Amino acid sequence: MPGLADPLTFKGLTLKNRIVMPPMANDFSGPDGEVNDRHLEHYRARAEAEVGLMIVEHSYVNPNGKMTVKQLGIHEDGLVPGLTRLADTIREAGAASTIQLTHAGANTTSEACGGQPLGPSDVAMPGRKEAPRPLTEEELAGLVEDYRQAARRAKEAGFDSIEIHGAHGFLLSEFVSPFSNRRDDEYGGSGENRLRFPLEVIAAVREAVGPDFPLLYRFGASDFLEDGLSLEEARQIAPLLVAGGIDLLDVSGGLCGSRPEQLAGIKGYFVPMAASIRSVVNVPVIGVGGITDPAFADGFIREEKVDLVAVGRALLKNPGWAREALAELAG
Ligand SMILES: Cc1cc2nc3c(=O)[nH]c(=O)nc-3n(C[C@H](O)[C@H](O)[C@H](O)COP(=O)(O)O)c2cc1C
Repeated sequence: MPGLADPLTFKGLTLKNRIVMPPMANDFSGPDGEVNDRHLEHYRARAEAEVGLMIVEHSYVNPNGKMTVKQLGIHEDGLVPGLTRLADTIREAGAASTIQLTHAGANTTSEACGGQPLGPSDVAMPGRKEAPRPLTEEELAGLVEDYRQAARRAKEAGFDSIEIHGAHGFLLSEFVSPFSNRRDDEYGGSGENRLRFPLEVIAAVREAVGPDFPLLYRFGASDFLEDGLSLEEARQIAPLLVAGGIDLLDVSGGLCGSRPEQLAGIKGYFVPMAASIRSVVNVPVIGVGGITDPAFADGFIREEKVDLVAVGRALLKNPGWAREALAELAG
């Protein structure tokens, strides 16, 4: 069985090992969302130290989907030169690159997104004070176009792949969740309807980048809420994401966020959920959550629970984590 140090190829993209740096927002940009030297240094340090796949932090496709004022943007052509420098830096440092495209939906503040936050319905996200304004069907069509243009920019900038953010209570996961989506049009109600907008986004992104470009989806596979998305329903949805054009699933939480309190302290806290999703799809799956120990990470792959392991906060703390982990496993 392969382990953490072994390469993996998906959709024609070869990763030199199975260590992933998951997207982690830095808030290094100015209010216009541009790349600067701090981004280059941050990603270079970790890519040079043997991360296999570097997923660049969430970047907004439209300013009305910003989560924070200093978030990275990908909403304008003028940002492409900076994004190109970032993709070049990661490649030259030896890692494969992905950039995460996002719209925060209701998971923001009016201060950050410049007006009342937008969402599927007027339901405030857990932990947020402001209820969103429901998006019209016309606005949804506009947002699909925003994702398409953002995907084109990511490819033009030279990223090796793209990740669509469908987790953590951001817009796409708000549509999928029965807790936040109370619509009675064709975008709400049945599971098929709640998945319609994410599938439209995936189709537009796929059109923008062509049939051979690797597409990842960060899938919030449970909300951990009584009226929210359950893992059981997520297992039905996952194959539909793949059928819609996704080549790799990066499994995380839904409306519960990326670091639910009730799972704190468990090593690999989303790995069981990722393994469950993996058993119903035929694409590679990333597992994440509280992983700091190389032997654990290696074991999750050898036991075929997941195909890749993402290590977030441990890589923030120690840019050399991947190199040290490989050395430790090589013994
Ligand atoms: C500072 C910080 C920023 C994050 N930003 C993002 C993000 O932009 N997109 C995303 O999908 N997840 C984000 N996450 C979640 C991480 O990708 C990851 O799933 C989470 O930290 C759990 O992994 P870990 O326990 O190895 O840190 C962020 C996490 C942290 C700590």
